[in-house]
Amino acid sequence: MILIDGKKEAASLRLKLKDEVIELKKKFNNVPGLTVILIGELAPSQIYVRNKEKSANEVGLNSHVIRYPNDVDEKTILKKINDLNKDNSVSGILVQLPLPKHINKKKVIEAIIPSKDVDGFHPINVGNLSSGYESSIPCTPLGCYFLLKKIEPNLSGKKAVIIGRSNLNGKPMAQLLLKENCTVTITHSKTKNLKSECLMADIIIAAVGIPKLVKGDWVKKDAIIIDVGINKTDEGIVGDVDFEQVSKKVKALTPVPGGVGPMTIACLIKNTIDCFKRTQTN
Ligand code: GUN
Repeated sequence: MILIDGKKEAASLRLKLKDEVIELKKKFNNVPGLTVILIGELAPSQIYVRNKEKSANEVGLNSHVIRYPNDVDEKTILKKINDLNKDNSVSGILVQLPLPKHINKKKVIEAIIPSKDVDGFHPINVGNLSSGYESSIPCTPLGCYFLLKKIEPNLSGKKAVIIGRSNLNGKPMAQLLLKENCTVTITHSKTKNLKSECLMADIIIAAVGIPKLVKGDWVKKDAIIIDVGINKTDEGIVGDVDFEQVSKKVKALTPVPGGVGPMTIACLIKNTIDCFKRTQTN
């Protein structure tokens, strides 16, 4: 079994991006800038944002985190996004989710100018991705895609089963795999007989948030499994895949932690650099 080392792949991508930033600086006398907006004190969000900032600085981006208390009003956030949209030193804007209940997620996502939407959540970017046009691609599915391509460069004709239909993961993942000529099935909480769907899959992307859902007898022996889940349980952080069972059966599997997580952050850096490049050449 191949244990897909997301930490190693992310480190190698960051190294490549670091060289790219050096070249961009030479060419444009400027480096890409990433601004992250963090609202409130949620512990996981604090950790994610700290890791994003650390990685961005390591690669040489000009990165900032703007922090607001949980009770900040929506208007203040929308005004800040509007200012950042116009700020030429900012190539990418990310508002960390989830947001407090009194702030409208849709309004916030749509306030970010699509050309600086490093999450790829703006409906313009979602539409561009599904139409096969150039766009920012959500970081987690993009990270999954790079890990998959590393194991299997030719995905054409493969049957991919995605568990979970979220805008963050499942839906954009389906678009990426369709573009690679996979036959894609998106499954979700109302899917009948998920096990039999999984048993037909050459590739499974588990992104549903149910600890150890995918069992050893759900998978084919030559399948590649990407586990997006990060579930806090009594036994610590576990994925959506029963690692112990599934690792004994399949061709390749990502661990949790150390699989998709590090790639997500490296892809955010990549997206920021790509946003910068598009503004420099347009
Ligand atoms: N919260 C958890 N994952 C993400 C992500 O990919 N982007 C943003 N903005 N917030 C998140």
